[in-house]
Amino acid sequence: MLSFLLIIVLSYLLGSIPTSIWVGKLFKGVDIREHGSGNAGATNTFRILGWKAGVAVSLIDVAKGFTAAYYISQIGYLTGGVLPEIVILGVTWETDVFMRLIAGAAAVGGHMYPLYAKFQGGKGVITAAGMLYGIEPISITLAILVFVIVLFSTRYVSLGSILACFSYPLFLLMLRFWFGFDIDGSLIVISATVAASIIIKHHSNIKRLIQGNENRIRSFKPAKG
Ligand code: G3P
Repeated sequence: MLSFLLIIVLSYLLGSIPTSIWVGKLFKGVDIREHGSGNAGATNTFRILGWKAGVAVSLIDVAKGFTAAYYISQIGYLTGGVLPEIVILGVTWETDVFMRLIAGAAAVGGHMYPLYAKFQGGKGVITAAGMLYGIEPISITLAILVFVIVLFSTRYVSLGSILACFSYPLFLLMLRFWFGFDIDGSLIVISATVAASIIIKHHSNIKRLIQGNENRIRSFKPAKG
């Protein structure tokens, strides 16, 4: 139980690192939350601080989710406190996958509601991608393909993110039921919950998309920075 709590707390604290806010303040003297979409995330960093800062923030934000799911989730093994089999609603869930998901989800939660930035964080897309790469790479690669296709055809990052989140659980179901992949039930349930919370975090983008005034990226050429 202690290692379970430790995994959640460490993952949350790692996810809480408000990369875009700190990079903006440290290197450019800018609070990213007061510019562009006001979102403390990689997209707004590209928009306001330029491509170099955007790439740096993206890489760190991916690493937060990946590190939590791939490494922090393993603390139970190091401390000898490996969790017993988890049975939820009579169904046994594979402990390793479950712990990776819990750690990754805690990091995404930290990114969205960071302890070090008055709980005003980003929307969690990139951190969730890192988390899912630390668990099952095929479906997240397909979801990223959806993101790229939507982005290049509409120039809306938000729409690409929303549709990638929507498609991710569907890809998992497809891999499991059409192609017979060994996809754990907890992956489907928890990743769908994370995807739904990311979509809900996009509520202001959804409103702007409906009203027709959502930000599009201006060009695919790197902006200054
Ligand atoms: O990942 C966030 C992206 O989907 C939207 O960002 O800054 O346009 O609200 P932003």
